[in-house]
Amino acid sequence: MKQDNKKYTENNLSYALNENSLISPLDSESPFFAPKIRLGILASGNGSNFEYIIKSIKKKQLNAEISILIVNNPNCLAIKKAIKYKIPYVIINHRDCNSRFEHDMLVMKKLEELSVELVVMAGWMRIVGEEIIKRFKNRLINIHPSLLPSFKGVDAIQQAIDKRVTITGCTVHYVQKEVDSGAIIIQAAVPIKEKDSKETLKTRIQNMEHIILPLAIAKVANNIRTRFKDNK
Ligand code: GAR
Repeated sequence: MKQDNKKYTENNLSYALNENSLISPLDSESPFFAPKIRLGILASGNGSNFEYIIKSIKKKQLNAEISILIVNNPNCLAIKKAIKYKIPYVIINHRDCNSRFEHDMLVMKKLEELSVELVVMAGWMRIVGEEIIKRFKNRLINIHPSLLPSFKGVDAIQQAIDKRVTITGCTVHYVQKEVDSGAIIIQAAVPIKEKDSKETLKTRIQNMEHIILPLAIAKVANNIRTRFKDNK
């Protein structure tokens, strides 16, 4: 297990080095803990991060099980991935709800029903309300395609291009009331090349997201388990 862990870290490091990227923190001990953590994944789009969480679990790099994928958009491609990998999913369409609060409550009820321990916003394009944030304090994380605190909010990749920065990246952070502002768990830096289009840059950022999100999940899962032990 330790050996796999070392290899995983080495693979990520060499990928990052090839891409002139940097991951921090990169703790070689972080991906492993037991028993399996129960994850709830929230997604609205393509679900590539969702798929890489599944792959990390399958490769035994992440000791987790996905209790549920929740999507807010019935056309979301993440659903296809859930079907492909036989992961339970539910569509909770915000358009069928009368308010943000009502939608949040349905999402929270589903997560609680399944005793989800850690909620991962993997391309969830909705602001979550205070009730969910409070209920899952230190157990709700988000991935964002910039080096926070730069370029919060929508279209972070375009924001970075428009500002002509030469390094951007991605961040996994805890969710708090202010959008894209919670404590940072892990970040990866990605250089912007002169020839980059938005699409090529997005691909390189997402390649790094696929590495750091499972690492962040492992790290937070460890924290949750440590707290649980301490409270015993
Ligand atoms: C990811 O790049 C993620 O960082 C971004 O949406 C994409 C989802 O891709 N999230 C945000 O912009 C949140 N503010 P995916 O559906 O292929 O995982």
